[in-house]
Amino acid sequence: MRAMTEQNLIDAFGGESQAHMRYLKFSEVASQEKLPNVSRLFSAISRAEIIHAHSHYKNLSHLKGGRTANSGATFGPGDTLKNLELALMGETFEVEEMYPVYIEVAKFQKEAGASTSFERAFATEQMHKALFEKAIAAVGKRNDVELNKVHVCSVCGYTLENESAPEICPVCSAKKEKYISF
Ligand SMILES: [Fe+2]
Ligand SMILES: [Fe+2]
Repeated sequence: MRAMTEQNLIDAFGGESQAHMRYLKFSEVASQEKLPNVSRLFSAISRAEIIHAHSHYKNLSHLKGGRTANSGATFGPGDTLKNLELALMGETFEVEEMYPVYIEVAKFQKEAGASTSFERAFATEQMHKALFEKAIAAVGKRNDVELNKVHVCSVCGYTLENESAPEICPVCSAKKEKYISF
């Protein structure tokens, strides 16, 4: 694998892994603050991030031994409003900078597996960004967010809020049964 794409996969694995852990913690805090829907949203999105991490990791199966991940991450946990703002900052970075650039590099380097892994994450992070924006608007007015069921594709991590999961995943074409509902 070309070195630059390889390092981008390592860094993205680091970033997604940390986002997974951060959102689990944020889910707990939201639950303590009696914001069950925000808590559920963080749980669902936490699951999506681990699916992305696994996908990036799988594309690194040719490696042996330790490497260093340089992962952008937000720090400074606080109350739920602040945690949502941290989450939004992370998702915005992924949507506006990280994944668009990683996708271009992978395509230029003809690394199809990495490119697919990055594209799937990119499609999902846009949904995450929108869901966190909606939650911030509610929590900013001291309300829990109004939230239908949240469905996460167990194959690609795609996340959507709806009464039911799609028949076919719009990102990876997995069947409805592959969706996990929160
Ligand atoms: Fe995300
Ligand atoms: Fe999917």
